[in-house]
Amino acid sequence: MSLTDSIPNNVDLGSDKKLLRALEKWQPDFIKWWLEMGPEGFQQDQIYLRTAISVDPQGWANYEYVKMPDYRWGIFLTPRSEERDIGFGDHQGQKAWNEVPGELRGILRRIIVTQADTEPASVEQQRLLGKCAPSMFDLRSLFQVNVEEGRHLWAMVHLLHQYFGKDGREEAEDLLQRRSGNADKPRILQTFNEKTEDWLSFFCFTMFTDRDGKYQLAALSESGFDPLARATQFMLTEESFHLFTGETGIERIVQRAAELTKQDPNGDARALGGIDLPTIQKWINFWFSSAVELFGGEISSNAADYFATGLKGRFREREKYQDHTALEGSYTMNVLSEGRLSSKDVPLRNAMNEVLRDEYIADCERAVRKWNHTIKKSGLTHELFIPNRRFNRSMGMYAGLAFDLRGEMITKEQFEAKRDEWLPTAADRAYVRSLMVPVHERGKIANWIAPPKQGVDNKPFDWEYVKFHQVEAE
Ligand SMILES: [Fe+2]
Ligand SMILES: [Fe+2]
Repeated sequence: MSLTDSIPNNVDLGSDKKLLRALEKWQPDFIKWWLEMGPEGFQQDQIYLRTAISVDPQGWANYEYVKMPDYRWGIFLTPRSEERDIGFGDHQGQKAWNEVPGELRGILRRIIVTQADTEPASVEQQRLLGKCAPSMFDLRSLFQVNVEEGRHLWAMVHLLHQYFGKDGREEAEDLLQRRSGNADKPRILQTFNEKTEDWLSFFCFTMFTDRDGKYQLAALSESGFDPLARATQFMLTEESFHLFTGETGIERIVQRAAELTKQDPNGDARALGGIDLPTIQKWINFWFSSAVELFGGEISSNAADYFATGLKGRFREREKYQDHTALEGSYTMNVLSEGRLSSKDVPLRNAMNEVLRDEYIADCERAVRKWNHTIKKSGLTHELFIPNRRFNRSMGMYAGLAFDLRGEMITKEQFEAKRDEWLPTAADRAYVRSLMVPVHERGKIANWIAPPKQGVDNKPFDWEYVKFHQVEAE
């Protein structure tokens, strides 16, 4: 089978022999990585997966049973009907680039590699979760997310191979060498080295960490480097399923927590084998405060450069903003001076990370309002919340200081005294892990989570989403 047959694409792979050869060389290494670091124990099973086989609305969501190593990882760029201008920054109004401008080569490569590295990292973080999936439906969702992160890696590797020559090919190899959580060759960003050992963490990851991805990809989809803009735009169509999985996954755990809290005479969901709402809050505190780091420093000359050069815009730059130069306005933020917080006006371009972080936080708060609605409907008064962005930070200007959940500055001793109340303890993690027993039978579901409102591809919840090749030894 030739590569062009095995890799669906709309980049005319067949006509670029050099690119084809480079990808042909990389493909077996990718498969080797997938078998070693992808979902453990399910590589021979038939999974009911969505595969993008073209970019049009009918073609990008094709469902069929497939063994994961046979998944057709494709390369897609959102098509353009006409030439596009650069939408912001110092080159605004000029024709978008279809080749990498020489002076931007280094910075563009860094942007692409950093994005690319997160994709295989998340597959590695999630590789054991199948073994304790709460239902066959959730098992399928996990694998859907995993194969699509694999495809996102392909999307970024295609750009590295096509536009960055030998450097790009080396970077593509390195992407398969680093390992999440490995002390010697870790993944680039810390959140992608965190353990994801239980399904509450998985749903928090897809809710909070993948959601950072959405905002980064959206900012890159505005890019003046058109192939990057088009690649990330198509990635976003798949990414929305990941975010949906996280947001509704937490909602289903919240719903079950509320039900069990009501059922138990002492209002203790744990007594009935559930995950209680305060525990869910701790996971939110941990994963939100970790994901929010991914937006980078509050005041950042890198962010200003990315914007000035037209490589990375704001969220929905073209639709939402009038002034695309961002040379004039300022952004008011809380900075530290003489040991206390005070507000300061920062030149807008230097505050671009914070502008994007605001969009992200507003989106997280929207989701929490939905979860609280679910709690309220059950008759409980408990409310979940998103902690303040300054809470539990280890990067940026709030790092090394202590803030409470509302963002008020406290002493490190005060923080330590509260740590076990605010963040998951070893005992909390052990408890949640103790609930992680596999439920792989059709139509069955673990006790600590409610079933989804609907199945996938108009199928019912009890559909056979996974056909196991043999009875599992459990
Ligand atoms: Fe992704
Ligand atoms: Fe994702």
